[in-house]
Amino acid sequence: MFAVFALLLCIPSLFSPSTTVADAAGPRLMNNRLYRFSYNTEVLLDRAKGSKEGSAGFRISSNVDVNLVWRDPSSKDDQLIQIAISKVRIENVSVRSAKKNIFHDATTQSLLGEKMLAALERPFMVHLKNGKVSGFYCYKTESATIKNLKRGVASLFQVQTSSGKVIENDVSGRCTVKYTAAQGRVTRTKALETCKSAEIGFNTYIQVLGVSGESNSVTVFTLEDGFIKSAVAEETHVLAVSARRLTAAKVVSSQALTLVNTEAGPFEAAGKSAASVVKSLDEKLFAVGVTAEKVKSQCKGCQSLFEHWKAVQKQFEPDSLSKAIAPRSFLALIQSIRKASKTEILQVLKSASKTALPQLVDAVTSSQTPASLGAMLQFLNFADPKGVVLQERFLYACGFASHPNERILQALLNISKGKIGSNDIKESTVIIMGALVNKLCQKGGCELPTVVEVKKMILEGPDSTQVESDVQMYLLALKNSLLPEAIPLFAKYAESSVGSYCTISLTALQRYNLTLITDEVKRTVNRVYHQNRRVYEKNVRAAAADVVLSSNPSYMEVKNVLLSIGNLPKELNKYMVSKVKDILHFDMPASKILRQAMKDMLSHNYERFAKVGSSSAYSGFMTRTTDATTTYSLDILYSGSGVLRRSNMNIYGTSNGALLHGLQVAIEAQGMESLIGAKPDEGEEDLESFAGMSALLFDVQLRPVTFFKGYSDLMSKMFSMSGEPMSVVKGLILLTDHSQTIQLQSGLKASAEFQGGLAIDISGGMEVSLWYRESKTSVNNRAAMVVTGNVTVDVDFVRTGMEVSFEMEASLDFITTVQFSEYPFLVCMQMDKVTFPFREYLTKYESLPSGKNYVSRKGHKERVPGSEFPLHQENSDMCKRVFESDA
Ligand SMILES: *[C@@H]1O[C@H](CO)[C@@H](O)[C@H](O)[C@H]1NC(C)=O
Ligand SMILES: *[C@@H]1O[C@H](CO)[C@@H](O)[C@H](O)[C@H]1NC(C)=O
Ligand SMILES: *[C@@H]1O[C@H](CO)[C@@H](O)[C@H](O)[C@H]1NC(C)=O
Ligand SMILES: *[C@@H]1O[C@H](CO)[C@@H](O)[C@H](O)[C@H]1NC(C)=O
Repeated sequence: MFAVFALLLCIPSLFSPSTTVADAAGPRLMNNRLYRFSYNTEVLLDRAKGSKEGSAGFRISSNVDVNLVWRDPSSKDDQLIQIAISKVRIENVSVRSAKKNIFHDATTQSLLGEKMLAALERPFMVHLKNGKVSGFYCYKTESATIKNLKRGVASLFQVQTSSGKVIENDVSGRCTVKYTAAQGRVTRTKALETCKSAEIGFNTYIQVLGVSGESNSVTVFTLEDGFIKSAVAEETHVLAVSARRLTAAKVVSSQALTLVNTEAGPFEAAGKSAASVVKSLDEKLFAVGVTAEKVKSQCKGCQSLFEHWKAVQKQFEPDSLSKAIAPRSFLALIQSIRKASKTEILQVLKSASKTALPQLVDAVTSSQTPASLGAMLQFLNFADPKGVVLQERFLYACGFASHPNERILQALLNISKGKIGSNDIKESTVIIMGALVNKLCQKGGCELPTVVEVKKMILEGPDSTQVESDVQMYLLALKNSLLPEAIPLFAKYAESSVGSYCTISLTALQRYNLTLITDEVKRTVNRVYHQNRRVYEKNVRAAAADVVLSSNPSYMEVKNVLLSIGNLPKELNKYMVSKVKDILHFDMPASKILRQAMKDMLSHNYERFAKVGSSSAYSGFMTRTTDATTTYSLDILYSGSGVLRRSNMNIYGTSNGALLHGLQVAIEAQGMESLIGAKPDEGEEDLESFAGMSALLFDVQLRPVTFFKGYSDLMSKMFSMSGEPMSVVKGLILLTDHSQTIQLQSGLKASAEFQGGLAIDISGGMEVSLWYRESKTSVNNRAAMVVTGNVTVDVDFVRTGMEVSFEMEASLDFITTVQFSEYPFLVCMQMDKVTFPFREYLTKYESLPSGKNYVSRKGHKERVPGSEFPLHQENSDMCKRVFESDA
C-alpha cells in the first residue's frame, strides 16, 4: 500500500522535465534572446455611464524590446533586463473625424519634441528579483513624465507564478496585491485603496457632503516558455458626489503588452551584482525607484492670482451673491489661491473693493493653505473694533473648514489670547474653536498639543466665570466640540436657574451619539421636564421633552411624559400633544414605544389630547432621492399671551447612513407681555424682555444674535424698526472639498478636484404691531450652490479631462403670523420654497501645448417647482382665517 503511494508521488517528477520552470518565482528570460512586444496604453475619461466612443482621452502605442543583460549565476530568478521603447505613436483613443481629432496630422516628434522622444526611446533597465522589480534604472535627467511612462511598462514585468497575497512596490506605490495562478495564466488584482504613494489628497470631513470613490485594477498575464506572452491591464476609478451619485467621473486606464516574436539577441554580461553591471554598461543609468514620482504641472500662460481676481471681482459683489455664478467663481478662485504665495494673496486682499472684500475673505480662508492663513492673519487686525464683519467672516470660514489642521486652531487660540476689539468677535473665536476641536478629534487629532490646550480651556470655561455671556460662550463652544467629557457639564447646566444655559445644554445633549447619553444624564433631563427640583421656563421644559423623546426613551419615561400631558401650562400642553402626534406620524425611533405606552395606558384620556392652543411641532420630508434624504422639522412654542416663546426650525440631510445637521434656526423671545398689555405666564413674571436668534449651519453652531434686550432697547427698536431682517450668517462656504491624485499603473496620472460651494444668506426678524395686534416672525434663507468635479490627465505633451457640475439657486422662507386679539390666537405658519432652477453640465476636453484643442459641452436645465411644505391641517385652516381677516 505504501509503495503504491510512493510510486504515485514519484511519477510527476519523473515525467515532468519542466519542474524547474514551475518552481520559478517569476518570469525568466533566456540568454541571447530578444523579445519583441507591441505595447499600447489608453486613458479614457467620461461620466460614470459613458462609453468609449464619447470619452476624452488618448492612446500611446509603441514597440517594446526586452532582453536579458545579466543573471546571478547562483539564482536564476535574479535577473537584470533591458527594456527599449521604440516607434512611439500618440493618437486618438476612439474614432474621430479629422476636425475633432487633435492628433490628426500630428507626428510623434511634433507632439513630444525631439528631446523628449529621444528620452522616451532611450533603453532603461529593470532588476527583477523573484519576479519583483527590485531596481529601476534610467537617466536622472529625464523628465518625471518620461520616467513614469517607463515605470508603467516595467510594471507589466512584475509577476509571480504562484498564487498568494503580497505587498509589493510598483508605479502605483506600495500596495497589497493578490495573485491567482493557473495553467500559464496569472491574474494580479491590486487593492488600490491600500496603495501608499508620495502624493496624498484630502476629503471633506462631513461625509454627507463628501465624495466617494471606487476603483479596481486587474492585470492578466499569460506565460509561455517561462516568460510573458501577454499582459493586459485594466484599471477603473469612479468618483461620485455622495449626495448625488449621478455627478460622477470615471477614469479608465488600460495597458496591453503582446509578444510579437523572439529573435537572437545580445549575450549575458558578466558581473558580480546587477548594480555593478548597470554601471559598467552605462554610467548615466541611476537607480531611481519604481514608484511614480511627482510631476510638477507647469502652468504655461496661466493667469496670476491678481489677473484672475481682476477678471472675476464683479461676481464677488453683494448683488451677485444670490446667483450660481457667485459660488462658481468662488470655487475657481480658491484653485488659484491654493497655488499663490502669501505676498500675492495679500496684494489681492489689499486691492479689493470694500463691498467685495468679505466674500474675498471667505475664499482666501476657505483655501486652507499655509500661505492663505498667513495672509489672513497679517491682513486682519483683531484689536480693531471696526473690523468686525471681516473678522467674523474669517472665523466662520475657519469653522466651516473642510480639512482643518492644528495650525488653524493655533491661530484662533493666539487670537483669543491677544487683544480683541469687539466682544462679539471674542465670543465667535471661542465658539469656533469648539467646532475645530470637533473636526480635529474626528480625524484622530484629539491629543495634538493645541487641541489639548483648547479642550482644557473650554471645559474649564463655564465654571471659571460668573459673566453670563461668557458662560454661554463656553457652553456654545462645548456644544460645537461634542467632547464626551462635556456631557456631565451639560447635565449640570441643564438644571441651572438661568434659562439660556439650560436650553444650550439641552440642545447640545441632543447632538450626541445616543450611546454616550447615560441613564444618569437621562434622569437629569427627565427631572428638568417634570420640574422635580425647580420650576423651569416653558421653553426649557419643551427642550427637555425633546431630549427625552429623542434619546431612546424607556417605557416608563414615555409613560410619565404622557401622564404629564393635561396638567401642563396650556401652550406647553398643546406643544406636547403636537410633539407626540409628530413622533407617531413621522415614525421616529420613539414611535414604537410611544404607541405601546398609549395602548397600555387604560387610564388614557383622550380629552387631555384635545386641548386648544397654538403651539405645534411638525416634521416632514423636503427631498427624497436614492442617494440622499432631507427632512425638516418646525417646532413652535407660544406663551399664554400669544407671543412667540421659541421657534426652532431644523433641516437634516442623510446619505448612506451619515447624518448632517444642515441648518437649525432658533428664535427665542421672552418678557414681551408688558408691551402688549397682557399677563405673563406663571413663573415668568420677572423675565427681562428679550428676543434673539441663533443658527447652527452644517454642524457648526454660530454666535447667536440679539434682536433686542431689555425694555428700553425694545422700545427704541420698536419705533425705529424698518422691518428689515437681521443677518445671522452670510457669505460663501466651501462645502465639498476633495482633492486626489490618481496614479495609474500606466505611469500617467489623473488629478481629481471635486468642490462644492454655497453662497448663503440667512436672516431673520420679528415684528410686533400693537395696532393690528399681530406679530410676525420671519426666517429667510437664500442660497446658491455649485458642485463641480474636475478630473484631468495632464502630461507635458497633451492634456485631457472632464468636468461635471450642477448648480441651483434656492430660497426657503419661513414666516409665522400671529394675531393675538382673541384667544385662542390665530397662528399661521408658512414655509415656502420658490421655484428654482437646476442646471447640470458635462464638459470633456483635449488639448495640445500648440493650442489645438477639442471641447464637447453638454448641458441640461430644469425648473424645480416651488411648493409650500405641508405643515399640519390645523395650520392650513388658520392661515385661511388670518388672510381672510387681513383682506
Ligand atoms: C482615430 O481616428 C481615426 C480617424 O480620424 C480612425 O481611423 C482611427 O481608427 C482612430 N483610432 C482609434 C484608436 O480608434
Ligand atoms: C501662535 O503664537 C505663537 C507664540 O506667539 C507662535 O509661535 C505661533 O507661530 C503662532 N501660531 C500661529 C498659527 O499664528
Ligand atoms: C454611535 O456610536 C456607536 C458606538 O461607538 C457607533 O457604532 C455608531 O455608529 C455611532 N452612531 C452614529 C450615528 O455616529
Ligand atoms: C478643471 O481643470 C482644468 C485644467 O486644470 C481647468 O482649466 C478648469 O478651469 C478646471 N475647472 C474647474 C471648475 O476647476
